[in-house]
Amino acid sequence: MKENSKNNQLREMYDNVMLPNYAPASFVPESAKGSKLWDKDNKEYIDFGGGIAVNSLGHAHPRLIEALTKQAQKVWHLSNYLTNEPAINLAKLLTELTFADNVFFSNSGSEANEAAIKIARKYHASKNSPRNEIVSFEGSFHGRSLLNISLGGTEMHKKGFEPLMPGIKHGVFNDLAGLEKLITDKTAAVIIEPVQGEAGVYAATKEFMQKLRALTLEQGALLIIDEVQSGVGRMGSLYGYMHYEVEPDIVTSAKGLGGGMPIGATLTTKLIGESMQPGTHGSTFGGNPMACAVANEVLKIINDLGFLEEVRRKEKLFTELLEDLNKEKKVFSGIRSEGLWIGCDLINADSGDIINRSYERGLIMVSAGPQCLRLAPALNITDDEIKEGIEILKTVF
Ligand SMILES: Cc1ncc(COP(=O)(O)O)c(C=O)c1O
Repeated sequence: MKENSKNNQLREMYDNVMLPNYAPASFVPESAKGSKLWDKDNKEYIDFGGGIAVNSLGHAHPRLIEALTKQAQKVWHLSNYLTNEPAINLAKLLTELTFADNVFFSNSGSEANEAAIKIARKYHASKNSPRNEIVSFEGSFHGRSLLNISLGGTEMHKKGFEPLMPGIKHGVFNDLAGLEKLITDKTAAVIIEPVQGEAGVYAATKEFMQKLRALTLEQGALLIIDEVQSGVGRMGSLYGYMHYEVEPDIVTSAKGLGGGMPIGATLTTKLIGESMQPGTHGSTFGGNPMACAVANEVLKIINDLGFLEEVRRKEKLFTELLEDLNKEKKVFSGIRSEGLWIGCDLINADSGDIINRSYERGLIMVSAGPQCLRLAPALNITDDEIKEGIEILKTVF
């Protein structure tokens, strides 16, 4: 990189002033539109990372900019002593489109999961039931708060942060035979991702999800589906649970819901949510009018049969091109996709290394562990952008 590079100057400053918990790319983005991004030195990139499944409609979508600027001219923030129209409208839309009757808004996936676990425990406590155990799965990811690393299945995320949250049991993902022992009369709730994204895009089988639903109902435990990454069109349906023909008790949503605005949502039924009376839970910023105004627009655009069909068509294009690349270069031992959410297992290569080399050639991707490339692009990425990005990836290999 050039001596007088603006990227370099800023990146050096980053290392001085930021906590060293991330290791970001050596360039700094200046602007972005659709699935293209330009850095401080004006270099162009194709964005296959989508802000890790957040920029669901790409960068600078005109309808989202309009929703945001309109709301920004009206009201930015209100305390929870007051309410706001965009939050009510968004909750109404979410309840019309899903199993849920009630919504709690927060600012992130971790907070949405925190609320889900609190709702589950409060529900049982309100019935004077002693059950408080939470069941989660190996390989899962639910966020980085202490509760969520305790729920998660990654030891590295937990190391040095002990003591963790007690009362959590981990089962084996997709292990049908182990389910019966796992869920008992002590289980308050089970939390599961329909597709484990951070683990490398591994889907729960329909059989597993349906048995989980049957057993939780039998035992009186709640089923929480963490759709923070899988939700809002990512899998080619509005929410991933819809693929499984199960009715959850609680769903958490974030990431793509805000299309880049920070928002988290915990969706549940009236019956389960009714113990959450005033004073039981809260969030200063949750339900922020600007975030909700943008999320309303995101949902309206994505919840369209034609749009979701396009997601599935582009999934096919993506995987065909990746398979072709692999025939030529023989670099992947596996390619898995669930909508516009793709995991590619690398043969003899480190994902961080490939990602860094892709940056040099103008392609942004993310990883899922040291051996898996993860693609979670904008759902409205164009065919040309897909083809261009894959061509760049080819040159990387
Ligand atoms: C399935 C899942 N749950 C929860 C989270 C945490 O979300 P956040 O980082 O917004 O707290 C993530 C983030 O990657 C996720 O993929």
